[in-house]
Amino acid sequence: MSEELVYLKAKDLQDLMQVKFERAGLLPEHAQEVAKHLTYADSRGVHSHGAVRVEYYSERIAKGGTTITPNFSFEKTGPSTGVFHADNAIGHVAARKALDYAIDMAKENGVAVVGVSQMGHSGMLSYYVDIAAQQDLVALAVCQSDPMSVPFGGTKPYFGTNPIAFSAPTNGERPIIFDMATTVQAWGKILDARSKDNEIPPTWAVDETGAPTTDPHKVRGLLPISGPKGYGLMMMVDILSGSLLGLPFGQHVSSMYADLSAGRNLGQLFILINPSYFTDLDKFKANLSKMIDELHENSPAPGFDQVYYPGELSEIRHNKHEETGIPIPTGIYNYLQSEVVHNNQYDNSDAFAEK
Ligand code: NAI
Repeated sequence: MSEELVYLKAKDLQDLMQVKFERAGLLPEHAQEVAKHLTYADSRGVHSHGAVRVEYYSERIAKGGTTITPNFSFEKTGPSTGVFHADNAIGHVAARKALDYAIDMAKENGVAVVGVSQMGHSGMLSYYVDIAAQQDLVALAVCQSDPMSVPFGGTKPYFGTNPIAFSAPTNGERPIIFDMATTVQAWGKILDARSKDNEIPPTWAVDETGAPTTDPHKVRGLLPISGPKGYGLMMMVDILSGSLLGLPFGQHVSSMYADLSAGRNLGQLFILINPSYFTDLDKFKANLSKMIDELHENSPAPGFDQVYYPGELSEIRHNKHEETGIPIPTGIYNYLQSEVVHNNQYDNSDAFAEK
C-alpha cells in the first residue's frame, strides 16, 4: 500500500521546515537557508534530499554534531583559489556561502576553484550549480559522503556515494544540470525496497561477502556505476573534495549516523568557469540551447516518449508541483507540524542498519 501524501505549497513546506530547524537550535537565517534548499529538492522530485532529512538533521543539531554559531572564514589561497572553513556548520549553509566567493572569483578571474572544509551534509548538489549557472557560469561541484560503496572487485565499503554535479547556462530560462551519485542507486532506494520487502536488481548492491544480492535486507555495500568507471569517479571525487583539502579520505570519512554529537568534517569542491574567458558568451549559450533542441528532435527509442536533457525532468516536476503542491508523506508532515524536535532514532553507528 502506498503511503498517503499531503500536497503543500513550496512556501508552506519551507516555513514548516524552518520552524523545526529553529526549534532544533539553528540560527533563523541558517534554518531558512536549509529549509529553502530542502524545498528545492522536494519540489524537483528528489525526495531523498528533501523533507525526509529534517528529523535526522534536527537530531544532529540537537545533539551538538552541527556547529550552531560557526566561525566561518574564507582563506584566499591564490587569485582564483580559496578554502572556506566551515567549522562543521550545517553543510547547506557553508557550501552556499562558499559558492558566493567562488562566483565572485570566477567572474573576475575567469575561473574559481573553491573548497569547503569541515562541513556537515550539504544536500542536493544541483542547488549550488543551478545558482552558478544563473550567473552565466559553468559549474562543477563534488562532495564526500559516508563510505557505503564497495571498490570495484572488493567486499567492504570504502568510498561514499560521492556525487558529481555539472551545470551550464543556456539561452532559455533554465540551465542544463547534470547531477548524480556515483553509485548505481542511492541508499534511500534500498531503504524503500526494505520497507516494502521488494527484491532489488542484482546490479545495485552486494552482501557481506561482496556477492551481488537481490535481498535489500542483506545489503552491506552499494555498487559503483559501471564497475571500474564509477569506482574511478568516486575516487576522483574523494580526492578533489577530501585529500585536496587535507580532510579524511575514503573509509575514514565520517558516517552519517555515527556519533551525532560530533562534527562530520566533510569536504566539497566547486570549480567554476566563466565561459566569456574562452568564447563568446551569447554564442556559447545559443549553442547549448541548439544542443537541447537537437536532442529533443532525436527520435525516441522503443519505450521512451522523448529525449530529455539532464535536469529537464526535475524542472518538469518542479513546474507541476507549483500547480499541484509538493507531495510529502503524511508521516513526515505530521512530524513537521508537531512540537517534537526528533525521536532519537538516528544515532546508530551501523550505516546499513534496518531503520
Ligand atoms: P538520478 O539518478 O535521479 O539522476 C542523475 C542525473 O540523470 C540527473 O542529472 C538527472 O537529471 C538525469 N536524468 C535522469 N533521468 C533522465 C532522463 N530520462 N533523461 C535525461 N537525464 C536524466 O540522481 P541520483 O544519482 O539518485 O542523485 C540524486 C541526488 O542525490 C543528487 O542531487 C545528488 O547531488 C544527491 N546526492 C548527495 C549526496 C551528498 O552527500 N550530499 C550524496 C549522493 C547523492
